[in-house]
Amino acid sequence: MKTISMKFLIPVIILLTTACYYDSEEILFPEVGTDCNLVDLSFSEDITLILNNNCWSCHSNANAASFGGNLKLQNYADIVQNIDALIGSINHNSSYPAMPKNGGKISDCQIQKIETWNTDGLPNN
Ligand code: HEC
Repeated sequence: MKTISMKFLIPVIILLTTACYYDSEEILFPEVGTDCNLVDLSFSEDITLILNNNCWSCHSNANAASFGGNLKLQNYADIVQNIDALIGSINHNSSYPAMPKNGGKISDCQIQKIETWNTDGLPNN
């Protein structure tokens, strides 16, 4: 009886002591590279740059009607008004159409910048 229970007990102990081996912080909480500056983000520089490079081909004031479903994401007021949908779409949240349309996700750093600018209170700076 004793021998049988030890046969089960030992693997269980080994499993319990090693199961968390891969739960390293890097894997559970993948970090945006340390070169991703999220401090003092500027609307006119950081945010505009990301949208210009990835979105304005369809969502600039000039292109929105033809290519962007009539959604303008160029002026501060238009961006602020659509910030929830914007953040949902770049995260490929299933409630929103994935953006950029027909393109890959923008980088984690770019997403973090927009999200941080949002939580910073959307400064028009
Ligand atoms: C190739 C053109 C194209 C690009 C590039 C593009 N979009 Fe769009 N976007 C569209 C079209 C067209 C729609 C209208 C809805 C649809 O067709 O999916 C749309 C819709 C949206 C919407 C509205 C979502 C809703 O709830 O209705 C948001 C927000 C959006 N885009 C954000 C972005 C952002 C942010 C980027 C850049 C990271 C981007 N888009 C890049 C074409 C584009």
